[in-house]
Amino acid sequence: MKLLITGGAGFMGSNFIHHILEKYPDYSVINLDKLTYSGNLDNLKDLEGNSRYRFVEGDICDATLINSLTVDVDVIVNYAAETHVDRSILAPLDFVRTDVMGTQTLLEAVRKNKVKKMVQISTDEVFGSIEDGKFTEESPFEPNSPYAASKAGGDLLCRAYHVTYDVPVIVTHSCNFFGPYHYPEKFIPLAITNLLTGKKVPVYGDGNQVREWIYTKDHCSAVDATLHKGKIGEVYNISTEDERKNIDVIQLLLQILGKDESSIEYVTDRPGHDRRYAIDSSKLRNDLGWDPEYKFEDALVKTVTWFQNNESWWKKIIETTDYQAYFKKQYPTL
Ligand code: DAU
Repeated sequence: MKLLITGGAGFMGSNFIHHILEKYPDYSVINLDKLTYSGNLDNLKDLEGNSRYRFVEGDICDATLINSLTVDVDVIVNYAAETHVDRSILAPLDFVRTDVMGTQTLLEAVRKNKVKKMVQISTDEVFGSIEDGKFTEESPFEPNSPYAASKAGGDLLCRAYHVTYDVPVIVTHSCNFFGPYHYPEKFIPLAITNLLTGKKVPVYGDGNQVREWIYTKDHCSAVDATLHKGKIGEVYNISTEDERKNIDVIQLLLQILGKDESSIEYVTDRPGHDRRYAIDSSKLRNDLGWDPEYKFEDALVKTVTWFQNNESWWKKIIETTDYQAYFKKQYPTL
């Protein structure tokens, strides 16, 4: 199988490329990535010289490029996206461009070049916040951030292209993921790298917001299941159904790193902050036989260990990107 994996230099995309090349010796991968601030070829250094792997720098909104790359691929897995909620609050247009228009460009190429399948990687955030119970694949979209709204737009285009043009697409909605190569602006890697450098962890609002967390390897196996066994035109929720309050995640990290509560700083809440995400993943488990392998506590220890052993990877990011400047702009007092 020949796959075009978009956004493959990012956190999840690069983990998925490793997963595919390790698990399927006869598959080959083209990695298309625009190398925005979060795209990082250091994530794929070990693949340099691998004859089954090719990197192309480019944008999923570039129809000519996408058209030429999809002439003879079997499958597209679309990881390319602007993904950070806080950035979407500061600069929503980038999100609309990549997450909506970029997705449409890919769908158009699938249609034109008769690509056999496209898997759209999306988020539980399209459903919005839920006080009790869980969202299913049938729940209505009620996005609350520009990021979530842009992903919802891309997902709706997938649906429309399937219904109107019979384009073979599957959409996945995942809970929060974490693990190696996670860009250190997101909650868990930001907390780890702050604690490792003697800084405080900023906790938004009261810290009682609830998220479900999935280790990157489990997310890869879930996408693998949808790619190989998923039904065209279907939507699958991916989650561990293991809910954690943000503050409890930080308490665990403090424990793992031998720190105390003086390393926590409660800061102004994120505007429009979703209180709780919870999705039902029984369709994926029952229909495709998927189950997560990793327990949250064990995976968190593994992740901390990876950051401890790969200091040069994240120090380079912290020193050379706008991430610190961005953070200071949002929280000038920190
Ligand atoms: O739910 C899946 C989504 O999870 C993905 O689709 C998004 O791409 C991803 O960014 C993530 O969204 P969240 O907003 O939940 O993730 P984030 O890591 O930004 O924040 C997790 C929680 O931690 C959230 O309640 C906000 C809070 N938080 C975050 C940061 C960065 C803090 O309290 N302090 C922080 O410094």
